[in-house]
Amino acid sequence: MCGIVAYSGSGDALPVILDGLKYLEYRGYDSAGVAILNDGRIETVRAVGKISALEQKLKKQTLKGRLGIGHTRWATHGHPSLENSHPHGTADGRIVAVHNGIIENFNVLKNQLLSEGIAFQSETDTEVLVALIGKYYAGDLEQAVRAALNEVTGTYALAVIARDRPDELVVAKKASPLCIGLGRGEVFAASDALAFIKHTNKAVYLKDGEIATLGPQGLVVKNLQGKKVSYKITELSLDPASIEKGEYPHYMLKEIYEQPRAVQDTLDGRISPQNDGALFAELEKHQEYLIGVNKIVIAACGTSWHAGLVAKYLLEKHARIPVEVDYAAEFRYRYPVLDEKTLVMTISQSGETADTIAAIGEAQALGARVLSIVNMPASTIARDSDMVVYTYAGREIGVASTKAFTTQLAVICLLTVYLGRLRSSMSEEYAAGMLQNLKRVPNEIAKIFGEVEHIKKIAGAFARHSNVLYLGRGVGFPIALEGALKLKEISYIHAEGYPAAEMKHGPIALIDENMPTVVLAFKGRRYEKILGNIMEVKARKGRLIAIASESNDDIDRVADEVIRIPDATESISAVLAVIPLQLLAYYIAVEKGCSVDQPRNLAKSVTVE
Ligand code: AGP
Repeated sequence: MCGIVAYSGSGDALPVILDGLKYLEYRGYDSAGVAILNDGRIETVRAVGKISALEQKLKKQTLKGRLGIGHTRWATHGHPSLENSHPHGTADGRIVAVHNGIIENFNVLKNQLLSEGIAFQSETDTEVLVALIGKYYAGDLEQAVRAALNEVTGTYALAVIARDRPDELVVAKKASPLCIGLGRGEVFAASDALAFIKHTNKAVYLKDGEIATLGPQGLVVKNLQGKKVSYKITELSLDPASIEKGEYPHYMLKEIYEQPRAVQDTLDGRISPQNDGALFAELEKHQEYLIGVNKIVIAACGTSWHAGLVAKYLLEKHARIPVEVDYAAEFRYRYPVLDEKTLVMTISQSGETADTIAAIGEAQALGARVLSIVNMPASTIARDSDMVVYTYAGREIGVASTKAFTTQLAVICLLTVYLGRLRSSMSEEYAAGMLQNLKRVPNEIAKIFGEVEHIKKIAGAFARHSNVLYLGRGVGFPIALEGALKLKEISYIHAEGYPAAEMKHGPIALIDENMPTVVLAFKGRRYEKILGNIMEVKARKGRLIAIASESNDDIDRVADEVIRIPDATESISAVLAVIPLQLLAYYIAVEKGCSVDQPRNLAKSVTVE
């Protein structure tokens, strides 16, 4: 999942492209590069590492010009190196392009082009695509790009310029995000509107298989058969100020602190005035179908998959619907048993995760309907699903997902009440109780921030470890998994989550004074059992951090460190318990000097398989 930015207009292209790339660094940061057309020549500067390395290089070689493209890379084909960084050009320098996606038949195409005498400098699929465009280019850039794309199988968000077309930018999209920005006398294209929102809020989202030419004649969109197609201009509501870190040192910390607001925004308008029902106008016309559903299969990745596991506990316990939870990449290849009474639910912050997108296609091909919980409007998953329920977390830029997760859990709690009431498997009183508890979550989360200094101190003591075990029972188990993922992805400490009861079946062999354990020990019907697991850890000299409810005062005599969350029901405690785990992971990563917002090898949205 790379980030691409392109600009054509009356202004200087370089500063706009560089600034835009910085907002896309969350998509990948192995290498970066820009290409600017000036006076009949395309000049390209590339650098391995983050945008800052490219900026250093550009201090010695400023590029002037009004048309340009830029790229920040997450390596798929070819390791992070200068030769493999984008932009890529034809051997004669006439055509230059940037690309996000995977050209699956690039080897076949490359061998064909090699046999025609074309040489390559890199290992990338993108260079092959550019060479193919160059092969078809005879002065009409859009036609050459279209001819090349008709030979390609795979995915792309592509921006192409030609040195003899000084005012023309050609872009194309298939299964990788791309949006066009229409400014005053200037146009933009980018993987994410973040890159140009400071300049315009007028956006056009291309559909898969569309190709657009941005030039003096304005914007022309065609399909791959060359037929003009219509397009819609969307006014984006994205507030440019919301994408700044402000006084926070990292986006991740800012987004942890935004969770009370994000959860409140997600709940607003979805609880009936009498507090006895959840409201989803967007599901109104699907109610009859939802009543008849006899199974839910959840497909998601990473943190969103953990939210799916929480959903299983809640939906089965409170709405009495059988639920299976799958990694999206596994779901799509395991021949799942689905039919028209199966509801496939996908969960995704970005709405662009390739495996989750593919799972939707697989589900619909097997006759199931798809309900997706998504944070990013106008995303591919939002467009491809039969039903969409949005979280309102706002833009999440830190690679480690935080506010997206808690808002996903808020939606899952609401959907549990909604389906429980719709299918008469939940009493009005029980629904009212759940909703009352849910309404308190924003304030309860805010209370936990009072533990920050204590968590910082614990983080300092635990940062030196190389392995950590996270344990939980019931709905605490997915939270243990989420806590482990937060730690490993930003601090590079190996961490794994486990059902606490499973300790005796293996993990207990790991416990000694060098293997700390984090235990979810909040109020619930499994609390006594958890205490037993804690004693097992202590009996083997394991150091232990407990995430416990306010009133669990017996835990102090057994745990080395206790981080408190407000008393709540088990379901709500799961939402609250993740906050200290996010903060613990954050402060350990900071203690270790890690790149919190852009951890190595990761990217915010995995738009490749
Ligand atoms: C979580 O912190 C990670 N960034 C990652 O696991 C993420 O949750 C996963 O890639 C799924 O992304 P999505 O929610 O945008 O589909």
